Amino acid sequence: MQIFHHIESVRNAIAQARADGKKVGFVPTMGNLHAAHLELVETAQKHCDFVVCSIFVNRLQFGLNEDWDKYPRTFEQDAEKLRAVNCDMLFFPDEQEIYPNGMDEQTRVIVPTMANVLCGASRPGHFEGVTTVVTKLFNIVQPDVAVFGIKDYQQLAIIRRMVADLCMPVHIIAGEIVRESDGLAMSSRNGFITEQERPQANQLNKSLNWVKNEILAGSREYPQLEAEARQQIENAGFKPDYLSICQSATLEPAAHDDTELTVLGAMYTQGARLIDNVSLALKPMNEVN
Ligand code: PAF
Repeated sequence: MQIFHHIESVRNAIAQARADGKKVGFVPTMGNLHAAHLELVETAQKHCDFVVCSIFVNRLQFGLNEDWDKYPRTFEQDAEKLRAVNCDMLFFPDEQEIYPNGMDEQTRVIVPTMANVLCGASRPGHFEGVTTVVTKLFNIVQPDVAVFGIKDYQQLAIIRRMVADLCMPVHIIAGEIVRESDGLAMSSRNGFITEQERPQANQLNKSLNWVKNEILAGSREYPQLEAEARQQIENAGFKPDYLSICQSATLEPAAHDDTELTVLGAMYTQGARLIDNVSLALKPMNEVN
């Protein structure tokens, strides 16, 4: 696996791969890689001949009181894991390489419709930081295909929208959520869950599935279902941030006749903020008999 720290070396090596007729896939990450990231790399490999992974803990997407400084940096282990799955290139830039003019005056990319709800409501500026860095990374790597995990459902939806709105020639592929055996979605932040909390930390997933099953069983009392699910999370000892039944494509609150739904949630443990989601498809009203 080639490892580069500079944009110019990445561009030269990718130009060579393209000259060899290779299709380029890209998996942007913030490192601390686990099985779900490696699945994203494997998904990219199914669609491409040359896969680039990036590791960059992007300060621009962290709020002032968030965990940028304590976000785990595990470069050696990450590189080893990527070698083991035959990733072709690792791009590991420092902040100076990505933000040579500092972050305050950095040109921003904003997706106005979806960036200020759900996670965006509790993390102002977060998605602006994500779309800005992803645009820069796309411009550096110029991939044919980029893979993002469904666990970050809102991020995926926003990136799809950005790519469409800005006519970016990148095909976005969604990577499935990888879960621990009790349903907890894999995340770099799971390392912050305390030992005492860990047995109940799958409550977010349990409550999302409870909502999904209630809807599949015919309930359309969405505000009540959301309130009940939040209560379940509180009863398990956690602080719910939000739990919302949304239209899958727009992330607007779901109406009774919407058929493609995603239930998204976030909750605080003592040391971490965890997110998860489940999607479901209902038959259109006029097909129900
Ligand atoms: O999902 C992540 O790890 C980050 O938000 C991303 C897409 C790498 C941008 O920094």
